[in-house]
Amino acid sequence: MQDAAEDRTVEQSVRPKMTSALMDRTGLDEGILTTLVYRFYARVRADAVLGPIFEARIVDWAPHLDRMVVFWSSVALMTGRYHGAPVQAHAELPVDWEHFERWLARFRKTAAETCPPEGAAHVIACAERIARSLHMAVESAGPRTVPSLK
Ligand code: HEM
Repeated sequence: MQDAAEDRTVEQSVRPKMTSALMDRTGLDEGILTTLVYRFYARVRADAVLGPIFEARIVDWAPHLDRMVVFWSSVALMTGRYHGAPVQAHAELPVDWEHFERWLARFRKTAAETCPPEGAAHVIACAERIARSLHMAVESAGPRTVPSLK
């Protein structure tokens, strides 16, 4: 059995290798992910359906965009930089699967325009997987369909 200190040592030595292997395989790096995030959210903010949902909740966009770059660095390159709670951030949003499809359509287009082909395929696959799990979280937080037994 490994103790926590040993786990940390393993993580510290393995993570940079995973990150550089992912960078080699996908052609992605932090600069491309930064451009992807900034372009994508510029489009989302201008979107007639998604824009108002974001604008009603995000007062200061600079920290949100920074957090999203860190998030994509963790997801796509396994850098371990993001420490947050995306499920909680979405569970109460007024959205259904059509909103996620719209989000994904914009993300796919921006990724294809911004990333090398392998990188675009990689971030799109990650986004599709995460969108499905966020959608499940939204559905489970929705109104209860089982009647009260009181
Ligand atoms: C219907 C589509 C979506 C909408 C309307 C939406 C909206 C939002 C909003 C309003 C916030 C800010 C929450 C707050 O600060 O109070 C947020 C945060 C965030 N979103 Fe989304 N989102 C959507 C889909 C996604 C997807 C598909 C992903 C991932 C691939 C994602 C990843 C994140 C992350 C990582 C945060 C930051 C959470 C944190 O650490 O605070 N979102 N989103």
